[in-house]
Amino acid sequence: MSDKKRASFGGKLSAILVAAGSAIGLGSIWRFPYLAGEHGGAAFLLVYLLCVLIIAIPVMLGEFAVGRYTHKNAVGGFRQLSKNWQILGFNGILCALFISGYYYVIAGWSLDYLVNSINGSLYNEGINFAEQFTAFKASSWPIVYTIIFILLTHFIIIKGVEKGIEKASNIMMPILFIILIFMAIRVAFMPSAAEGYRFFLTPDFKQAFSPETLFTAAGQAFFSLSVGMGCMVTYASYFNEKTNLIGTSLSVSLLTLFVATLAGLVIFPAVFSAGLQPTEGPSLIFITLPEIFKDMPLAPLWSAIFFILIALAALTSTISFHEVLTAYIAEEHKLSRKVATYMTTGITIILSLITLLWTFDFEFMGKTFTSTFDIYDYGSANILLPLGGFFTCIFVGWVMKPSFFKNEISNYGQLPGKVAPALFILIRYIAPVLIMYIFLKGLGVF
Ligand code: TRP
Repeated sequence: MSDKKRASFGGKLSAILVAAGSAIGLGSIWRFPYLAGEHGGAAFLLVYLLCVLIIAIPVMLGEFAVGRYTHKNAVGGFRQLSKNWQILGFNGILCALFISGYYYVIAGWSLDYLVNSINGSLYNEGINFAEQFTAFKASSWPIVYTIIFILLTHFIIIKGVEKGIEKASNIMMPILFIILIFMAIRVAFMPSAAEGYRFFLTPDFKQAFSPETLFTAAGQAFFSLSVGMGCMVTYASYFNEKTNLIGTSLSVSLLTLFVATLAGLVIFPAVFSAGLQPTEGPSLIFITLPEIFKDMPLAPLWSAIFFILIALAALTSTISFHEVLTAYIAEEHKLSRKVATYMTTGITIILSLITLLWTFDFEFMGKTFTSTFDIYDYGSANILLPLGGFFTCIFVGWVMKPSFFKNEISNYGQLPGKVAPALFILIRYIAPVLIMYIFLKGLGVF
C-alpha cells in the first residue's frame, strides 16, 4: 500500500532517530525524575521499566503496524482499516491537543533558564531559586518563551517530513546523547553522589507495586514512549516497507530507558549533594539543579549545557505532536501542508495561552488542579493515553485478523519471524489486561 507521492524517512537509522526523538523529551528528563522522586526513586524505576517492556512496546508495535500499512495520519489510518475505529484516531487528536496545551509551557521555561544561564542573571549573588522560579512564573516571560518555542517547532514542521522532521532529529539526537553522558560523568564526582545513586537504584518492593505507583508508572511509560495517541501511527506512515518495526520499537524503547536512567543518575546525586529533597514535583529541575550548578566552577556554562539538553529533547518531541495534528488537518480536511501547519500553530498558541493565563482551584481524586496545565498533564498521561493504548491492543489484537499484525511486524516474512507470535500474544492478551487492571485499580474502581 505504498503511496508514491507521500514523504518517507530515508535510512534505517532515521526511523529510529525520529521515533526516539519523539519519545525522548521532557517526559524522560523532566517528568520522569520528579515522578521517581515522589514515588520512592528505585521502586518507580523498576515498575516503569516493566511497564515499558510489557505494555508500551506492544502498543508501539500496534501503532507502527497501522501507520506503516495504511500510510495515513492517525484518524485516516484507523478509518481505512475499519470505519468505526476512526474514533480511536480522534482520541489521539484530543490527546495531542491536551499535550500541546501544556508541553510548550515547560519547554518555554527551559528556554528562559537557558537564556538566563548564558547571560548570567540566573546566578546573581544571593539568589533564592524557589523564589526566582515563582517570580518567573508570575511574570510575562513564560508567555514570550512559550510562543518562541511553538514558533521553533513551526519552522521545522513547515519544512516538511524529510527536510524538517528527519533532518532535525538526525542532528539533534546525537548531540543530546553526548551532553547527557557528559553531565552524568560530571555529577559522579559530586560529594553525595553515592546517596543519590542509592535512592535511585535500590528499590522498596512494597512501594513499587502499590496501585498509585503502578498507575503513575504506566502513565509515564505511555507518555515517555509517545504511545497511545496515534503519534507512532503518524510517524510510521513515513516508514518504508523495509523498516524493521520490531527492531525500531526495541531501539526506541531502550534509548528512552537509557536516557531516563541517565537523567536520574544526573539529577538524584546532584539533589542529594546539595542537601535537597527529591520530592519537589514539577519544579524539581528548575529549582534544585540551579542550586547545584551555583556551587560548581563555571556554573553558567554547566547550567546552559543542561538547559540546551532539555530544549533539544523537548523540540524533537514537540515536532511529533505538531505533526500528528498537521498531518490530520492536511489529509483529512484536504488542505495544503502549509495551511495545516499554520492552523496547528495557531491552535497551539491559543491552548498554551489559556494554560498560562487562567488559574482556578478544584479537587479530583485527591489531587488539586490549579490550571489547565494540571488537567492536561493528568488527563493525557493517566486517562487518554492508557485508553488509547488499550483500544489499540483491542483493535490490532482482536478486530483485525492475526495475520495483519504478524505480517506487518515481520515485513511479510522477510524478517526472521520467530518472535512475531509471542508479540501477538502480548498485544492480544497480556498488554490490554494489564492496562485495564492498572487503570481501573489506579482510579479506585475496585
Ligand atoms: N514522549 C514525549 C516525551 O517524553 C512526549 C510526546 C511526544 C508524547 N509525542 C507524544 C507523549 C505522543 C504521548 C503521545 O517528552
